Amino acid sequence: MRTIIEPFRIKMTEPLPITTRREREAALTSAHDNVFLLDAEQVTIDLLTDSGTGAMSDRQWAALMLGDESYAGSPSWRHFEKTVREITGFKHIFPTHQGRAAERILAATRLKAGNVVPNNSHFDTTRANIEYVGARAVDLLTPEGLDLYSEKQFKGNIDLARLEQLIEAEGEENIPFCMITVTNNAGGGQPVSMKNIESAKELLRKHRIPLIIDACRFAENAYFVREDEKGFADRSLLEIAQEMFSLADGATMSAKKDGMANIGGFFACNDDNWAEDFRNLLILTEGFPTYGGLAGRDLEAIAVGLMEALDYEYQRYRHATVEYMAARLVSRDIPVVRPPGGHAIFIDAAAFCPHLAPCDYPGIGLVNALYLEGGIRAVELGSVMFGKPAAGDRGEIAAPHELVRLSFPRRVYTQSHFDYVIEVLDLLRQQRDSIKPYRIIKQAPFLRHFTAHFSCDA
Ligand code: F0G
Repeated sequence: MRTIIEPFRIKMTEPLPITTRREREAALTSAHDNVFLLDAEQVTIDLLTDSGTGAMSDRQWAALMLGDESYAGSPSWRHFEKTVREITGFKHIFPTHQGRAAERILAATRLKAGNVVPNNSHFDTTRANIEYVGARAVDLLTPEGLDLYSEKQFKGNIDLARLEQLIEAEGEENIPFCMITVTNNAGGGQPVSMKNIESAKELLRKHRIPLIIDACRFAENAYFVREDEKGFADRSLLEIAQEMFSLADGATMSAKKDGMANIGGFFACNDDNWAEDFRNLLILTEGFPTYGGLAGRDLEAIAVGLMEALDYEYQRYRHATVEYMAARLVSRDIPVVRPPGGHAIFIDAAAFCPHLAPCDYPGIGLVNALYLEGGIRAVELGSVMFGKPAAGDRGEIAAPHELVRLSFPRRVYTQSHFDYVIEVLDLLRQQRDSIKPYRIIKQAPFLRHFTAHFSCDA
């Protein structure tokens, strides 16, 4: 059959708020024109993030009831540990309350001011945690990865030549670890090939630099490897994930993505000293190492969810939904990052709004127009999220791209929801000249996009 169907049926429903334009205008004004500050009841289709917003399966809900809430040594921890070890093969496994907690402890225990951490692209929390301890986060995407419209596969690959140059320039002793993010969220959700991870590991091994995988979307990446990389077509997604982790020295994970859970994360590694340092700080800020900030029931739900994410039929359906939307947007001349990534559609807001400069924050203009027109919530990944103040009083350094991300919560929305989003975007494209420039009128010193207040010039 050519039609790829949802490999599940729906047992429980949740009403969607349907609002009027006037209600949305009032809501956005009281949210200071920042959709992060909206109440969720004011949003009809919420594509802000795929993080922690998925629907759990009946098996996950059943597993919740098996949660054992013992402070130490709970059987739910054993279930979690066994599952994470089966997938990753790592010796030491530490639950954390979400991905950034793993990043924070890793940065605090392994980095000093002046160190450098390369990555294909750091996600905002990863970058912020590295910079918070005074180290430098360097993105090393390949030229194809930087080209939004190149149809090349594996545009999340780390640029090996630039990695080698960086190691030479900075010195291996100044690079406590290198990261690779699968899939590459900040760069369009693009996958990384096994070959690229293998070659990066070979280079890093020569310099005794450990490799840490940011594994948030490891199962989506495994699906791309199976479908598009030579030699993997008859391998299971679990086997592909196992091979990928076998190339690394550790991993940080947000279980809110391919853990198919609403909260949770982990750090895993092989090195005993790294584990010792991580454990000590974990106890200080997250909790005892057998729960790490999570309830026993969360550990159970994640253990089940991690394996569900590796189900081939589920991934086939998930990728089909992203491709469905991308194909329809392309046919309506809406500029989207090509080829579509694993968890989201990324719209090129700079091309969508040619009348706006980066300092007008076209991504915010488009995000707010999507909300006003259709009650749809998306997120800007452009100069608000990734721009930086310039030295002196010379304004800001713009981000390389002005993107708007429409993320797909897992197992939540159906095809008619996506058809609605496509219709709203088509309408906005026809009225694109009316998308307005924005200014920031209040901002925090880091991760400013979450809480900034904007004002609209027009
Ligand atoms: N790394 C990547 C690649 C991510 O996408 C995220 C979160 C994190 C780390 C941090 O994980 O949220 O559990 O602390 N990304 C979410 C998003 C927030 O919307 O893409 P966390």
